[in-house]
Amino acid sequence: MIISFISQKGGVSRSTLARATATEFAKAGWQVHLADLDTQQQTSSKWAERRDLASLTPSIETAVYRRHNVALKAAALNQLLLIDTRPFADISSVDIAEASDLIVIATGTSLDDLEPSLLLGREFLQKRQIPLHKILFVVCKAPSIAEGQAAQRTISAWGFQCAYHFIRFMPGYSQALDAGKSITETHYPTLNTAACSIIDEIASLINS
Ligand SMILES: Nc1ncnc2c1ncn2[C@@H]1O[C@H](COP(=O)(O)OP(=O)(O)OP(=O)(O)O)[C@@H](O)[C@H]1O
Ligand SMILES: [Mg+2]
Repeated sequence: MIISFISQKGGVSRSTLARATATEFAKAGWQVHLADLDTQQQTSSKWAERRDLASLTPSIETAVYRRHNVALKAAALNQLLLIDTRPFADISSVDIAEASDLIVIATGTSLDDLEPSLLLGREFLQKRQIPLHKILFVVCKAPSIAEGQAAQRTISAWGFQCAYHFIRFMPGYSQALDAGKSITETHYPTLNTAACSIIDEIASLINS
């Protein structure tokens, strides 16, 4: 099983969703492997190191891959392969999308963030014949509830599947990530519940 986290824009919480999905599936007993394709920043890999240094469990098996086709081969060895891609979707993103059981497209709420992601989703559908049900948009870093909901409406108006819940922009989330925790493991129960709801939506799509 492969879930990929792809976006056109940078800094939209792709790695954040990948880390939360890895953590919650591992907690649920899945054998997960998080493939970090961002060789420059190595966000997920460095986070997994911080997690291990803090002795947090479950430990998340993570590796950095320079080539996406090598990362994809890890699917054969793992129950769930999560692929955290580089910013600026390129030809490798298309290959990864085609191999994925679910493509999670993280996006911010502004039109500057939304439009490139929606166009990427349309490219997957029209040029690559990736089925609509394999693409899930997740609104992240929403500055307010109203802006989160407006972004969800825009995504739905384009005909895409959008997660029912969204992630607010909250310092509690970035503090957790800095400490090697996922956004489902913050100090704040309401933030954890919101993040867990999105992982539940991902799990129900994967299990359907
Ligand atoms: N909901 C949130 N609230 C506050 N900060 C957040 C939230 N989500 C992510 N962040 C912070 O925003 C930054 C970018 O998040 P992340 O690395 O997940 O995005 P990305 O799309 O993978 O970025 P990149 O394009 O650099 O790979 C990080 O510093 C992270 O801690
Ligand atoms: Mg990233």
